[in-house]
Amino acid sequence: MTHFIITIDGPSASGKSTLAKKIAQRLGINYLDSGAFYRSIAAFLILNEDSAEDEGFLLGFLQNATLKLEYEGSFARYFLNGVDLSPYLRNEQVAMKASRIAKFGVVRKFVNQNLQAICKKGDFIADGRDLGSKVFPKADVKFFLTASIESRAKRRELEQKTMGTETSFEKVLEQLLQRDEQDSKRKIDPLVKPADAIFIDTTSFTTDEVCEQMLVNIKKKFVVRPSWYRVLIGSFLKKFFKIFFRLQVFGEGNAEKVLGGLVYANHTSYLDAPLLLSILGPNTVFVASKRVIEKNIFIRCVTRFFPLILVDEKNMPRDFFRICNKEIHKGSPVVIFPEGMRSITGEILSFKEGLASIIIHCKITEVLPIYLGGVYKAWPKERLFPVLWKKITVLISKPLCITGHKEGGAKEPRNALTEHLKKRLVDLEKQYKDKYE
Ligand code: CDP
Repeated sequence: MTHFIITIDGPSASGKSTLAKKIAQRLGINYLDSGAFYRSIAAFLILNEDSAEDEGFLLGFLQNATLKLEYEGSFARYFLNGVDLSPYLRNEQVAMKASRIAKFGVVRKFVNQNLQAICKKGDFIADGRDLGSKVFPKADVKFFLTASIESRAKRRELEQKTMGTETSFEKVLEQLLQRDEQDSKRKIDPLVKPADAIFIDTTSFTTDEVCEQMLVNIKKKFVVRPSWYRVLIGSFLKKFFKIFFRLQVFGEGNAEKVLGGLVYANHTSYLDAPLLLSILGPNTVFVASKRVIEKNIFIRCVTRFFPLILVDEKNMPRDFFRICNKEIHKGSPVVIFPEGMRSITGEILSFKEGLASIIIHCKITEVLPIYLGGVYKAWPKERLFPVLWKKITVLISKPLCITGHKEGGAKEPRNALTEHLKKRLVDLEKQYKDKYE
């Protein structure tokens, strides 16, 4: 199983860790702070009052050292030889020592081996100095962030003052200059911009602006070019719905904001899937029930040309969640009809657990509800063919942010999440009935 890795390199206080954490949360992947590895070693040595900083001493120490991370959500606590060093890591004395010992090959080898071993276990965004150039030369997406020395010093001063550390702009500036010098002039794996990294100067942008820029770039790297026939079918469907069903879509901009993204909609008709495909684009992937597809030759034929993620509702193996996750991170909209079947009356039915399970297992933080209005009348369940000229109106909501969901998901939070998601769709239905029906 291949996992993906995004790297961010750059000088101190260029915004790497803040952005890596934000993106980790948005994509539901883990954050790996390579600087914290160097800082853990430095903090451990300071706590043990080991002031020697030569290769021989460090080799002896690291030969028997074990580094462990314990994740709490997307973020980790760092243990060296069983000691939790997390509380000491942001200390400036620790940072300076980390930068000094980081020039030794034995230290870099120890850290790099640990980083590579951890990243084999899942999808990660990692930040540091040499991640794209040395540790993960084949990373899926690489960024290099920088900012003017003044704005980096201001950011670090603010960060330290927020943590209650007495400092001044001049002092921080001096420390940053010294570390920049040490990090970019050392012989082994100095700070460099990898040739294939996306360069962003964060000086005059807010964190949110840079985050959006990075997400757009991640999406671009992953989005696969759809085959020509899917593009053709997509644009045909768009015209078909416009002409024969006077299609109107509200909130199209909301769909563009979701990166790849999990989408859910009400289900009343065979028109629902092609309609969503015409709106969300030819990369759209549908989650479909194995049982329904296997017994219906018509659906089997139509869906041959479009990617489906088939699922046995009674048994959702880990692999199913892995495929959903991968498609979403590749920038494909993944659509699920949470009612699990077409509604006979046109009213929204109760939701099955599938949608909440995907959100929990794939740690999805944003999901896009879409209400398909008028489709029921355009092709009711009991009719063999659609009724042309009926009006179809689609309402695309703002993405719903999902927070605090737990892996494994006890029944109760999953039920609460399911109800929450259904409520949003019912709200959209009400809005449709009040304004557009
Ligand atoms: O947060 P900040 O950018 O100031 O530092 P950090 O990323 O926590 O890294 C602390 C020190 O570890 C840096 O000054 C580097 O000398 C070293 N480091 C490194 O050499 N290679 C890395 N991949 C990450 C950090």
